Amino acid sequence: MMSEQQNELLSRIGPGTGAGAVLRQYWQPAALAEELVTSRPVVPVRLLGEDLVLFRDNSGNLGLIDRRCPHRGVDLCFGRREDNGLRCPFHGWHFDITGQCVEQPGEPEGSQMYKNIRTTSYPVLEKNGIIFAFMGEGDPPPFPAFDCFAAPDTHVFAFKGLWECNWLQAMEVGIDPAHASFLHRFLQDEDPNEGYGKQFRDKAANTEIPMTQLLREYPRPEIKVEDTEFGLRLIALRHMDDGRSHVRVTNQIFPEAICIPMSNEMTITQWHVPIDDETCYWYSMFTSFGKPVDKAVMREQRLKEHRLPDYAPLKNKRNNYGYDPDEQESLTYTGMGLDINVHDQWAVESMGRIQDRTIEHLGRTDVGISRNRRKLLAAIKSVEQGDLSALPMYGEGEIEAIRGPGSIDAIGLTDEWEEVWLKAESQRRSASDWATAQS
Ligand code: FES
Ligand SMILES: [Fe+2]
Repeated sequence: MMSEQQNELLSRIGPGTGAGAVLRQYWQPAALAEELVTSRPVVPVRLLGEDLVLFRDNSGNLGLIDRRCPHRGVDLCFGRREDNGLRCPFHGWHFDITGQCVEQPGEPEGSQMYKNIRTTSYPVLEKNGIIFAFMGEGDPPPFPAFDCFAAPDTHVFAFKGLWECNWLQAMEVGIDPAHASFLHRFLQDEDPNEGYGKQFRDKAANTEIPMTQLLREYPRPEIKVEDTEFGLRLIALRHMDDGRSHVRVTNQIFPEAICIPMSNEMTITQWHVPIDDETCYWYSMFTSFGKPVDKAVMREQRLKEHRLPDYAPLKNKRNNYGYDPDEQESLTYTGMGLDINVHDQWAVESMGRIQDRTIEHLGRTDVGISRNRRKLLAAIKSVEQGDLSALPMYGEGEIEAIRGPGSIDAIGLTDEWEEVWLKAESQRRSASDWATAQS
């Protein structure tokens, strides 16, 4: 159980907050690259409680600047995209991608005032379909060589979705390996050959057992958590009746991402990015170790469930997430359809906009959640004391050398579980056209 003060400290992310200061030390997904593929690439971005405008200038360079014009505060999302920058429609002040004002056409001839006007701006760059922003002070850190960044563009598909809750409870569903046996339980198994692009719809590892059956039949995982250079590795062991165990390896990438297996071919790296204290986006990079990702199919599957331009899910609390009691009797554990994203969304949104952690009761299966909260509290303290070297991926060793992380399902003899997953992981990597060994 946490105190109210600790809960606030972990949850709130605006400028000047503890968790906000930690998140600002890491690159944050700000938009999908596809959002800027329009004739006028200018979009509003609300990120970590700050209102910004993201745009491409006429040369194709990306800029992320304060949404409010520093002159008299109007909305620069309506700016004129010209002369390699964004021009405010109110009095014509013109800003380049660094936020520097370069012209004030209404001020007296020869005025130099513009030189002293610089609005907030943050570095941005694109990686395999996602535009990342760095909102901290000083130079941004390099990117680790995670698979989702190292894979060629053909092997990564990026998408996002809106959840109406705080970022931390959204992320915590991803470090809770036990819930998959309940929340995502299917009372009937589909043909795994029809499961392309869907979580838990493949065969379990190298067997013919549908993953859904395995999760249903073995609901009490033994969960081990290890500290790593990027965050945490979670190992869920489901001990089977025949002396073998199913080993599922998932990861928490500090502070707000997870990397998990989706199918035998693909992993999902997913950030839970705060829009503000009470809303967040999940951003996923689906990464294939085998064939190139069928982006058209992946996109179509997800567009059926979301509305543009805000990527809000069509099933949500206003329509009870599509809850159907008959379906709950016969087909799914939740009665909320077959898309597991909706299940997770219901779980994290129905806790309330900011989960009250003073009244929860954590069990043994919540070991990843409590470990991560301790790490986050420690990181908040370190940043407060000005010691970034205590943060994951800020300490010794090169960030660019961090690879993987290994995220896989494997089955083998119970007392060999460690070799079982490492072997499956290295086999998948050596069979892949692009993957390198995990670090
Ligand atoms: S408010 Fe933007 S130029 Fe005046
Ligand atoms: Fe889930």
